[in-house]
Amino acid sequence: MLDSGCGTGASTRALAIADPEAWVIGIDRSAVRLARGPLASPTTMPPNLLLARAEVAAFWRLARAAGWRLRRHWLLYPNPWPKPEHLMRRWHGHPAFADLLALGGELRLRTNWRVYAEEFALALGVTGHAATIVPVAVAAAHASPFEAKYAASGHELFEVRAAAV
Ligand SMILES: C[S@@+](CC[C@H](N)C(=O)[O-])C[C@H]1O[C@@H](n2cnc3c(N)ncnc32)[C@H](O)[C@@H]1O
Repeated sequence: MLDSGCGTGASTRALAIADPEAWVIGIDRSAVRLARGPLASPTTMPPNLLLARAEVAAFWRLARAAGWRLRRHWLLYPNPWPKPEHLMRRWHGHPAFADLLALGGELRLRTNWRVYAEEFALALGVTGHAATIVPVAVAAAHASPFEAKYAASGHELFEVRAAAV
């Protein structure tokens, strides 16, 4: 499983604990964020968790070239890049979208911006992958730090789901 743009890696750690049979890898380009998460206390790292600093588009390209196939791919609260001219920076408009799809697996993207969810689902649809958008239930345990922050601010949260692409 891949947790792309994992921030501190708190979400990745939770995923690894929940699914000890899976290798769970979290990728983020921010060394500052990664240093604030499980890497700061390595003794709490489950053995199936790997956190790495990398640019995810490059990572996806290399993983695709190496023939990786994922079971599940999480994208939790990617940067929205909200201006119209930023469309190509959103993952569904980015050249790396083809690599993301080629890595396969079930896709789960969460966002607090309905437009991002709708665009992402539309992009999956036009590439032949049925996707649904479901509300993220406000839970006591949040999937990630950004989810906790948005939920505390009363934001509506959306999850895009696609079966193995
Ligand atoms: C809004 S934060 C969400 C962090 C985390 N997923 C969460 O939900 O708490 C977006 C994260 O994506 C990372 N990010 C954005 N673009 C990236 C890229 N091209 N490669 C790697 N990380 C990226 C940022 O460094 C940041 O940690």
